[in-house]
This record gives sequence, C-alpha cells and structure tokens, in this order.
Amino acid sequence: MSKILVTSALPYINGVPHLGHMVGCLLPSDIYARFMRMMGNEVLYIGGTDEHGTTSEVGALKAGMDIRDYCDMYHKKHAEIYKDFRLSFDCFGRTSSEENKEATYHIFEQLDKNGFIEERVIKQVYSVDDKMFLADRYITGTCPYCGYDKARGDQCENCTKVLEPTDLKDARSSISGSKNLEVRETKHLFLNLPKLEKELEPWVKTKEPFWPDVAYTIAQKWLKEGLQSRCITRDLKWGFPVNKEGYEDKVFYVWFDAPIGYIGITKQWESEKPTERDWKDWWMNPENVRHVEFMGKDNVPYHSITFPATLLGTRENWTQVDFLKGFSYLTYEGGKFSKSENRGIFAEDAVKEFDADYWRYWLIANAPESSDAAFTWDLFVGAVNKDLNGVLGNFVSRVLKMTSSKLGDVVPEGGDYTDVEEELIATLQTRVNDYIKYMNEMEFRKALGELRAIWVEGNNYISVTEPWTVIKTDEQRAKVILRVCINLIRIFAILSAPIMPVISQKMLDKLGMEITGLNDFDVRKEINTLKGGEKFEVGDMLFERITPERVEELKAKYGSSK
Ligand code: 2FM
Ligand code: ZN
Repeated sequence: MSKILVTSALPYINGVPHLGHMVGCLLPSDIYARFMRMMGNEVLYIGGTDEHGTTSEVGALKAGMDIRDYCDMYHKKHAEIYKDFRLSFDCFGRTSSEENKEATYHIFEQLDKNGFIEERVIKQVYSVDDKMFLADRYITGTCPYCGYDKARGDQCENCTKVLEPTDLKDARSSISGSKNLEVRETKHLFLNLPKLEKELEPWVKTKEPFWPDVAYTIAQKWLKEGLQSRCITRDLKWGFPVNKEGYEDKVFYVWFDAPIGYIGITKQWESEKPTERDWKDWWMNPENVRHVEFMGKDNVPYHSITFPATLLGTRENWTQVDFLKGFSYLTYEGGKFSKSENRGIFAEDAVKEFDADYWRYWLIANAPESSDAAFTWDLFVGAVNKDLNGVLGNFVSRVLKMTSSKLGDVVPEGGDYTDVEEELIATLQTRVNDYIKYMNEMEFRKALGELRAIWVEGNNYISVTEPWTVIKTDEQRAKVILRVCINLIRIFAILSAPIMPVISQKMLDKLGMEITGLNDFDVRKEINTLKGGEKFEVGDMLFERITPERVEELKAKYGSSK
C-alpha cells in the first residue's frame, strides 16, 4: 500500500464553476483518487477554495458584502456544487484559514532566513478615491495601439497587446470609475527565483520521464527564458498580513499563499481529528508519499516552478510534486463559456438537468488531455443515448429482464463453460489490464475507451450466444450464459465505479452487492462470484434516453451554435 497525495487546483472563490473547470482539474482528480483507493492505496485527496486577491475584494465590494461573509457564502456554494458532482475530497478547505496562515508564515520565515527574499521599491497606480493601489487589470482606459476604450492595464482585449497601466490614455479605476489616479512608489518583497534556478533546473530535469508533455514543456520554457524575481506582496487589505517588520500593512500575494493552501488544508484536515491525523505524514515525507497534482494548463508554471522553488528555498524536507497532470480547455458549442453572455452550462445547472454521473462520464471520456476539447449538446446526447443507455443500460436491463421472465428472479445455477466463455474471459482480462494501466497513468480518454469496449464485449457475448433461442432447446446452457451475463453486470459496475459511483452502486443494488476493490482484478475469479441461487431485482432502467425535443430545449436554454 502506498500513500498517495492528490490535490486539485483550488478554484477562485468568486468564479462560478462551469463544465470546463469541472473537467480541468476537479473531476479527473476525483476519479484518480477513487481509483487509487480502489487499488488499495492510502489516499489523501485535498481541495478547497482560493480566497485572497483583488478579485475577491472587488467581488465583495460589488455585492455590498463584508469580504469574510462574501467568502463564507461562496465557499459554501462551491462545496455544495462539488458534493453534487460527487467529488470525494478528504478535506475541502480554504486558503484563508488560520491553518494556512500558519503554514504561509512559516514558509515565508524560512525563505527570508535563508536569503531568498529581497526588498524592492516599485511604482504602482494608486486610486485616491478608492484609497487603494490598483492591480493592473483593475485599471481601464483607451489602448494606445488600437483605440479600444475598454483596454485593461495589463492587456488590451481587442488587439491583445500587453500593456503597462501607464500606457493607457484616459485611465480610470475599474472599481469606482474614478480618474483620480497617481503613480506612487511602494516597497515590496520579492522571491528571488534566479538564486534558486540552479537547483530547480536539475530537479525539473528529473521529472522529464514522468510529467506529461503539457507540463514538462511549459516548465522548460520558463527555465529557458530565465527566471525573474517575483513580487509576493500586495497593497491590499484582504489577505494574510505580511509577517515582517515594515510590511505589516501589506498582504501576501494570492499566488504565494494559494499553493501553500494545499498544506494549509491538510492542516485543517488534521485539526478535525488531531489525535489520529498528522499533516507531516503527507507533506514532510517525500520518500513515502507520491504527490499527484491536477490543474488547468495556465496553472502549470506556478506548480512546476514557483511553488517547488518556494519549498526548496525553505531548506526543509517537503514532499514535492511527483506527477503533474495539466489539462487544456473545454469549449462550449464552438465558443467560450460566459456567464455574462449566458453561454454555456454551468456546474450548478448541469446537475439539475442530468445526474452527475452522466456528466462525469462524458467529461472524462472527452477530457481535454492533449488539446482543447469541444462540448456540444449533440455530442453529449449522442454519448448518453449510445454508450450509457444503448450499451451499458440496455445490457443490464435486457439480461435481468430475460432471466426474470424465463427463469425467475434468482441467478441461475449449474452447467459448464464452453470455448465462448473462455474466450470472453481472456479478452476481458486483456482489456481490464489496459483499463487499469491507463487509469494508473492518468490517460483518461484511453481508459474510458477501454471501459466502453468492455461493456461492448458483454453485448457481443449475448448476441453471439443467443440465450433467448438456446433456452428453447437447452435450458442448462441458457442458464450458464445468463449467469455469466449477471456476473458481467457486477464486473462492469466495479470497473465503472471511479467514474460513475452512483450508477455503479445502483447496478450492484440490483444484485444485493457492494463495490469492492480493483487490485489484482482477476476476471476468471470475478466472473464466478455469483454462483447461482442469489436473488436479484430487475428494477428501473439505469439511464434516461434523451429525446430530440429535449435536446432542442437544452440548446435554447443554454445557447448553441445553431
Ligand atoms: O486558476 C485558478 O483558479 C487558481 N485559483 C488556482 C490556484 S491553484 C493553487 F495554487 F491553489
Ligand atoms: Zn488595443
């Protein structure tokens, strides 16, 4: 048994998660955590909300709420959505917790003591009326290159030119609209990444055989361009006040304490049961812990360079990332998800339309692993009707109904296997081995291709053996076939459990059984589990079939390209 620490990138508190967020880190990390538990490992799966930063401050201001109340409210909302999606976090915490403050202070003190923190004076735009320094993206003005009048201080959305706030004409605060802006000097703390570069480079190199291309290439690109010192403090009120003399009125930058949040949340987890749990078993135990991180590709630089460098600079024995799984983006009907334009289906609504397992299946089968993936209602409905309903659901109901009507609601007994069963066992074992291999490697699309193929084998078997014909002449042979099929239902349920936990349990409920492990999965043994004589229930269909009328309704409600 190994210890596996799984983390999912911590979504910004004030964003409303859409399907792209779900598939970009949350769902795959859950599926991996569930799979690893079923393989018999000791898993700690950590998630939470990323709460600091200007976006939260501005969000609270706009909502007319106290920032803490605002974050409490959104944290609860995120937690509910993820529960609806059946994410099995061992702890779903917050970057604003006391535990994270403690971790952040400790790590900062170590970095400072070891000479990796430098002080610099920088120029920043101050809004006199808002009484605050403005982050670059909170300054709006006219782009000097294209004349677009809503360009942001960091970039013009219209012509994509990267800007400095001082480039903008007619600059104003995006918060209040005030033009009463001044450039002021302010003192900040920087993490000296160039000083750590020499150690970081060989460390990243050791990851080449293990990290997927997306992650390794991004890390290499950053190293090649040469690392710059990064400012880790901000002139804001919302955040952890900097624990250094002369900086008490500043807070740590959101990207400094966010990844430390994984540690902070593990400390929260310890606080729930302090006598049983120890966060250090996970975070100060690199020899015995495999740490796997999931994130969107825009987060890769922070997780492959900045955060590892932060931990290296403490000179302490931290558990560093062993495998970093980065995802590309999901598009919606050929464009972007946009709450303001009412385009796309957001996580909260998705589970109201269809049970989470439908989404879990489709999103993981189509995960944007090597390039962007496209969500369209036609693709989604096609997969639900064809794979889930047509292949899996239909097999289950056909087998149980047929057995029930011809032989009663009891698993049929007796008889021997023929070459057809021997061949089925061999084919399934090969596919199961591949499925487990791909899940281990986090090649989710390939894994789900195998899973689907395994369900198809069941359909092929029943088509070839034709128990409905055989029963007329050889009842014992028909009993063998139907018993094999009922055992296949159980096998399909167990293999599908990391992806569709509730549907899997429903399948097993029909047989009065529970989800068991996947370790050393031996098809010959598993197919002989139900030996005959056990009662079963036909019950309802597992999946609903989505009608063309419903598809049109969904397209009209959430937007479509047609
Ligand atoms: O991109 C995002 O949503 C960030 N909030 C991710 C942070 S991941 C970790 F560092 F907390
Ligand atoms: Zn422009």
